[in-house]
Amino acid sequence: MRPALSLLSLSLAEAVLGAINWDIFEHGVVESFKWSRAFPDDGSDPGGFHVNCKTEGTFHAKMYKLSDLWEDPPSGLSPWHDAIEDFLGHRDYIGSWDGVDHKGQDREIVVMEYVDVPDPVKHWIEEQQLDERDTPNSPKWLFAVFEKPKQEGQKILSTVAPKPTAVSGEHDTAKAAAIPDKDKILVFPAGSIYENLPLWVSKGSRCERDLSNLTNYKPQAIDHSILAWPVDHTKPQRDLGRRDMKFTIEAMSVIESEDGKRSRLMWERLHRAVKRNDRRNQKEERLRARKEMEQGRDPDGWKEQDEWREKDEL
Ligand SMILES: *[C@@H]1O[C@H](CO)[C@@H](O)[C@H](O)[C@H]1NC(C)=O
Repeated sequence: MRPALSLLSLSLAEAVLGAINWDIFEHGVVESFKWSRAFPDDGSDPGGFHVNCKTEGTFHAKMYKLSDLWEDPPSGLSPWHDAIEDFLGHRDYIGSWDGVDHKGQDREIVVMEYVDVPDPVKHWIEEQQLDERDTPNSPKWLFAVFEKPKQEGQKILSTVAPKPTAVSGEHDTAKAAAIPDKDKILVFPAGSIYENLPLWVSKGSRCERDLSNLTNYKPQAIDHSILAWPVDHTKPQRDLGRRDMKFTIEAMSVIESEDGKRSRLMWERLHRAVKRNDRRNQKEERLRARKEMEQGRDPDGWKEQDEWREKDEL
């Protein structure tokens, strides 16, 4: 009986602790990271909101550290070494899961088979790539698509050119479009994924239309918004030479409930009343201070000025 009991409590502890990414405390988070989980982690709905629909999906990927760039596959990324360094050089490091920055050669990047990437995400990425403006930190450099080497020793030097649009359709881009998805990989720091999380699980869900429209994707629940979060991500067993991991994304479309709206409006009114009261107190405080100063210094001179002011206001 005993072993069974301790096993049970161990898995309970793992279930509870598993939700916490301890790297946040150990390594810190990049300053630019603005996302946080907008719904409870016990499966209940966000307070004051009605959930139209909820969906989740799990994805298989590999996670590497920058120190792996020199190593040969499968534990390294040597064929893409130059291309990945070039890609990462175009913007400040956006962070790993939860925006964590392990710093230096310990910085993490996710690598996926392009065929495992959902279509809406592919379209989003391809649209970003079409943007020819190359400003620092542009969304164009959140994800990189690379070709796989065709023969041993081949080095990949740059990202795959975007697919041709109806207008362009030039020679190079037409050629790129011909590269089948199975011959491509997707590379990104995990922090990039927060920009388009709903698109990973939108397809085939009950609210595909809602989740496909990133206009309504918000970091916090508001009326008619969509929320999403990577509710789970595993760590590769690097000590065993492994790089594979998986992550699970949950997304939902929410509207404010009647109760939620009522209590929000009540709080907003209360907040406004408190602020009004604060302002009144501050004003009274200022007036009192001025009066004290007037009485202390030159009562007559100030009195005259005040009389003038009063006339002005009439
Ligand atoms: C996306 O949502 C916004 C805001 O609700 C709306 O104005 C827009 O028309 C939607 N776009 C599409 C393609 O449905």
